[in-house]
Amino acid sequence: MAESESAAGQQTAGQQTAGQQTAGQQTAGQQSAGREADLIVPDGGFWPAPAIPQPNIYPMEWRVETEKLAAIYQKSKLMAWNPADLPWDGLRAGDFTVEQRLGIMYWFSVLANFDASGPAVFARATIHAFEQHEEDPVRKCFFSITRDEMNHEECCQRSIAALWPGGPLDWTPSTDLERAAHNNIGWLYHNGGRYWSGYNKAVGKYSLPVLFTSFMMGEMAASTLFRGMASGTTHPVFSEMFQRIGRDESRHLQICITILENEWPGLTDDVKTTITRQLRAGFIFLSMILWEPPEGFWDLPPYFLPNHRVLMNHAREAGLGVLSYADQAENWKTAIAKIRVIVQRWGIEFPAIPELDIEGVDVSADINPEDIIPVF
Ligand SMILES: [Fe+2]
Ligand SMILES: [Fe+2]
Repeated sequence: MAESESAAGQQTAGQQTAGQQTAGQQTAGQQSAGREADLIVPDGGFWPAPAIPQPNIYPMEWRVETEKLAAIYQKSKLMAWNPADLPWDGLRAGDFTVEQRLGIMYWFSVLANFDASGPAVFARATIHAFEQHEEDPVRKCFFSITRDEMNHEECCQRSIAALWPGGPLDWTPSTDLERAAHNNIGWLYHNGGRYWSGYNKAVGKYSLPVLFTSFMMGEMAASTLFRGMASGTTHPVFSEMFQRIGRDESRHLQICITILENEWPGLTDDVKTTITRQLRAGFIFLSMILWEPPEGFWDLPPYFLPNHRVLMNHAREAGLGVLSYADQAENWKTAIAKIRVIVQRWGIEFPAIPELDIEGVDVSADINPEDIIPVF
């Protein structure tokens, strides 16, 4: 950077030769050009290239500061799996009642609000990491998360296609239960859309530690969710799917924690306060899939939650592995306790989560939809 910065304000090589023959360009008959003797060294030395206005993905470089991240990236390639190879022939619509099929489709549609946003969320984060000239393993790890999330999205897509063609929304409901499912999914994606708008702003607005803390919370939630469901499901396709996704999510969590260990020392109090708020925002966002959405934040009609419970019960009875309300709460509480231990190590206060009897700083008044960083 130092040399190119010194060139700022100077005339560039491109301007100098515009319309002229470019230095080194061969003309017909000059077939011998390209030998060492043809090298041109301008009087007064080479002209420094102009500084590249930042943020920009250029200049290219491959700096490695955290070997552990480079190793995780290499491992992620060895652990690759293909959702198309799951034993899909074993997932047959005829093995379920209509209500159970609808319940499973509904659950995957709810999951898709999170996991199917993963590829776009991490693709944007990957570009951001390039523009910020994060070290090479950070960019590569983000790319690998993008890759994995695309597989998780494919699992939602294939499960729904097998059991409820046209789902999540491109089908016509014909019973009250079906109308309730279709309508709830519509409201859910309305909220997903709000959070996506917020995320687009958050990527440029928040510092990397704030973003990574939200990512870390999402990965902790995801690894906990899939571990719980892998142990709860009675279906071989879902069992293999949840185990594989759970393993990916644990790797994502490892990536986020490794990055945060680099970023956390030296955080200002201001950033620490923002992180405390983000942790509460993460709880609000992720509770929709881990447990139940807290009151007064998700923009939902009053009948959403009772209908959501009926549909979730059908998914549960189908053997999908959806934990009971109490087990979900316990599972979520365990995941949050782990996050709490990690962030408190760095002197960051934890937000109060009265819904799960977790004490902490009351930040509930300072959270807007724009603050939510959606991630899974
Ligand atoms: Fe995922
Ligand atoms: Fe993930």
